[in-house]
Amino acid sequence: MSDKLIIFDTTLRDGEQSPGASMTRAAKVRIAKALEKMRVDVIEAGFPIASQGDFEAVQAVARTIKDSTVCGLARALDKDIDRVGEALKDANSSRIHTFIATSPIHMEHKLRMSPDKVLEQAVYAVKRARKYTDNVEFSAEDAGRSEMDFLCRIIEAAISAGATTINIPDTVGYNVPDQFGAKVREIIERVPNADKAVFSVHCHNDLGLAVANSLSAVINGARQVECTINGLGERAGNASLEEIVMAVRTRSDVFSCVSDIDTTQIVPTSRLVSGITGFAVQPNKAIVGANAFAHESGIHQDGVLKSRETYEIMRAEDVGWSANRMVMGKHSGRNAFRSRLQELGTTFESEEELNEAFSRFKDLADKKHEIFDEDLQSLVTEANLESTVNESIKLVALKVCSETGETPHADITLWVEGEEKSGCSSGGGPVDAALKAIDSIIDSGSELLLYSVNNITSGTDSQGEVTVRLEKAGRIVNGQGADTDIVIASAKAYINALNKLLTTAPRAHPQGGDV
Ligand code: KIV
Ligand code: ZN
Repeated sequence: MSDKLIIFDTTLRDGEQSPGASMTRAAKVRIAKALEKMRVDVIEAGFPIASQGDFEAVQAVARTIKDSTVCGLARALDKDIDRVGEALKDANSSRIHTFIATSPIHMEHKLRMSPDKVLEQAVYAVKRARKYTDNVEFSAEDAGRSEMDFLCRIIEAAISAGATTINIPDTVGYNVPDQFGAKVREIIERVPNADKAVFSVHCHNDLGLAVANSLSAVINGARQVECTINGLGERAGNASLEEIVMAVRTRSDVFSCVSDIDTTQIVPTSRLVSGITGFAVQPNKAIVGANAFAHESGIHQDGVLKSRETYEIMRAEDVGWSANRMVMGKHSGRNAFRSRLQELGTTFESEEELNEAFSRFKDLADKKHEIFDEDLQSLVTEANLESTVNESIKLVALKVCSETGETPHADITLWVEGEEKSGCSSGGGPVDAALKAIDSIIDSGSELLLYSVNNITSGTDSQGEVTVRLEKAGRIVNGQGADTDIVIASAKAYINALNKLLTTAPRAHPQGGDV
């Protein structure tokens, strides 16, 4: 009998700590529903003390999700723990995740507390969290650089105080697989009451080792992995859920545990998260990248056609890539559209939502002969973007003139809080002119940090998917837009980012200094 591997998804908390990935309440609920459908065991929904908006988002997830446990993060402080307790009050199944740093460098420079004081505070926090729920997780932040004796002492004390899950984070992504696995094994062997808790790991990807370190920990006894969709997360990100889940499943000869994840939901959820956060997935990303199952070289293709095991260790359809990329076109009807999206993992919550997406499909089919699965998914992502961001600015019309020897020029009309406004600008190129024309109406005072375009499918009639990142007074947001015309896609992405910048409030960071 294999053990169960608990999948703890922190896309909505650690993932949200990526620059510009902050999510609205509606966006969090949408992603949480997709995670629940994927049968994620624990969804970490946020850090409720960060702001009123964060509190409400965690509360909304807790009220919506029925099958997964909903978790909230708290530093080892009364105010944080009480706020999480309050936010999770209506959850079907809840967990409080409290943490304090245990490495010499963090205790001395960040917390300015002695190890004994840190231990006392950890015990106090776990006991306080137990007043709200009997499902309490304790994390020894920066465990990857903590001293073994102290780590064992604080973990034993946290379990005695009532922690049911002990998390060993490699907060700064410093560890390497053999050493990290050995560390987890030693902790489990040395802590006298280790059998009273589930051991978990939470690895960051600063050296590109987050998944390898997590898997090494699983081989050495960890039974919960904290991970995120697409590996999103602070700095270089967290261990990616899809890689952990598929490694454990594909190499069941190596791992003596199984997860309950419905792997066919992986690709649709990856697309949803990338669309909402504006973090595009690199084409060569394992499992969810566009090339992950594409066989370019003739030799490989020949091998795969004769016997798929020659070059494939997983089946694309098992992770949610569609078996046949059914092509739709101008004449495809509403039912075919609905059923294809259903097969791709998207269901519509109302007829209105279906009609809206179908009318976008018809518009696209007018511009593009063949509609691929990727186009359909992008249509839905675009609808998601609009429904999860409070749109005070919308694109009404855009005209751009670009001609050899002439300076490109753009005329634009926007809908701004119920009023139509027009502006124009010239620029170095058509995209530059279009974005400057938007600036001539919306003087946001923001700085453009990133602009990138990807084609969604192949061919010159492909839709371009544009990502922009804006910064204003230390706040960073990402915006996305897709269209067969990349100048329009760029304007949509820029407007999406502006809407986020104008409507999201500043928030506190959980791993900041004060305890
Ligand atoms: O990386 C980390 O240590 C964390 C903790 C809050 C678990 O995110
Ligand atoms: Zn983290």
